[in-house]
Amino acid sequence: MKAVSLSFIGFGNVGRGVARVLMEKKQFFRDRYGLEFRVVSISDSSATIWNEDIDLKEAIMIKESLGSLSRWTNDYELFDFRPVDVVREVESDIVIDVTNDPKAHVWHLEALKQGRSVITSNKPPLAFHYAELTEEAEKRGLSYRFEATVMAGTPVITLLQEGLKGDTIESIEGVFNGTTTFILSEMEHGMSFEEALEKAQKLGIAERDPSGDLRGIDAGYKGTILHCVAFGPMAFDRIEVQGIEGITKKDIARARKRGRTIRLVTRVEKGRVTVRPMEVPESSPLAVYGASNAAVIRGDLIGDIVLKGAGAGIRETASAVVNDIIRASTRL
Ligand SMILES: NC(=O)c1ccc[n+]([C@@H]2O[C@H](COP(=O)([O-])OP(=O)(O)OC[C@H]3O[C@@H](n4cnc5c(N)ncnc54)[C@H](OP(=O)(O)O)[C@@H]3O)[C@@H](O)[C@H]2O)c1
Repeated sequence: MKAVSLSFIGFGNVGRGVARVLMEKKQFFRDRYGLEFRVVSISDSSATIWNEDIDLKEAIMIKESLGSLSRWTNDYELFDFRPVDVVREVESDIVIDVTNDPKAHVWHLEALKQGRSVITSNKPPLAFHYAELTEEAEKRGLSYRFEATVMAGTPVITLLQEGLKGDTIESIEGVFNGTTTFILSEMEHGMSFEEALEKAQKLGIAERDPSGDLRGIDAGYKGTILHCVAFGPMAFDRIEVQGIEGITKKDIARARKRGRTIRLVTRVEKGRVTVRPMEVPESSPLAVYGASNAAVIRGDLIGDIVLKGAGAGIRETASAVVNDIIRASTRL
C-alpha cells in the first residue's frame, strides 16, 4: 500500500466534495490502486488545521455547522497560516488548491519548489501563468494537474494531453459556461435578460457577482487553458472576449425562427482564442442545456470528437480532482 499525504487549501463546496469522495471510496482506492490517502492539513480563509491524519468526517461537520475552521475549538491545533506558509511548513506529497484565490500561482510555484505536486480546480493560475508553472513541475519531475478547471469532471484536458498524441489539433469549439447557457435558455422561454439573471441567482446557478460569467471572462479562462494544452502557452490578455450582456429577446427570437439557438461559444485555434455569443443550429452538439458543457475537438487524423458532460457540480468536479490525485499519486 502506498501512503500519500494531502494538504487541502480551500474547504468550500468542491473541497468538501473531494473530501467526501476520499472517505466514501477509501476501500476502492486501496483495492484498485493500492493507495491510502491521509489528509494532513486543511485550510480555509480563516485558519489551517494541521495534524498527521485529520478525521475528514469531523472536519466536514465542523465546517458545515460552524462555517469557519477558526471556530474549531477541540482536537486539533489551529494555525494562522497563509497558503504560502502551508506549502512551506506542512510536509505533504500533494497540495490541492480548491480555492478561488486569483493569486494562487504564487503558492503553487512555492509548493513545487518545496517538492510537492499540485492539483487545482482554480482557473486564474493556469490562465495567466501556465508556462511558468508547468515548466517548474516538469523540471522537478512533479505533477501539476488541473482537469477540473475546464468542463468540471468531463475529461477534456486529459483527452487532449494523453489521447491524441499523434494528431495535430486543428480547432476546439465549445460551450463552457453554464450560467450563460441557463440565462440564454430562459430567454428562449420568454424571460428578459434581467429576469433570467435574477432566476439564475435565486437558484444559486449564477454567483452573487455574475460579471465574470456574463462578460465571458470565465469562458475566456477556459479557452486560454485549452489553448495552452493543445497549442502551447497563450496569455489571457491576448484573447478576444465578448459576453452575453448585449443579447436581447429579439436576437433570440430571430435565431429561433431560423431553427437556431444562441450560445456563448469559445473557439480555440493555434494562436487565437475567441469567446462570443453565436447562433448554433438546434441539431449542433453545441446546443446544450442546463449545466452541460460540450466541446468539438478537431484533429487531423481523428476528425471531429464530440465531448459532452457536466460543466459544474460538486460530485462532477470532485471526479476530476480525485482523478488528478490518483494520477499524481501513482507517479510519486
Ligand atoms: N463549484 C463548481 O462546480 C466548480 C467547478 C469547476 C471548478 N470550480 C472552481 O473550484 C474552486 C472552488 O470552488 P467552490 O465552488 O468550492 O468555491 P467556494 O465554495 O467558494 O470555496 C472556496 C474555498 O476557498 C477558500 N479560500 C479562498 N481564498 C483562500 C485563501 N487565500 N486561503 C485559504 N482558503 C481560501 C474559501 O474559504 P472560506 O470557506 O473561509 O470562505 C473556501 O473554503 C474555484 O476556483 C472554482 O472556480 C468550481
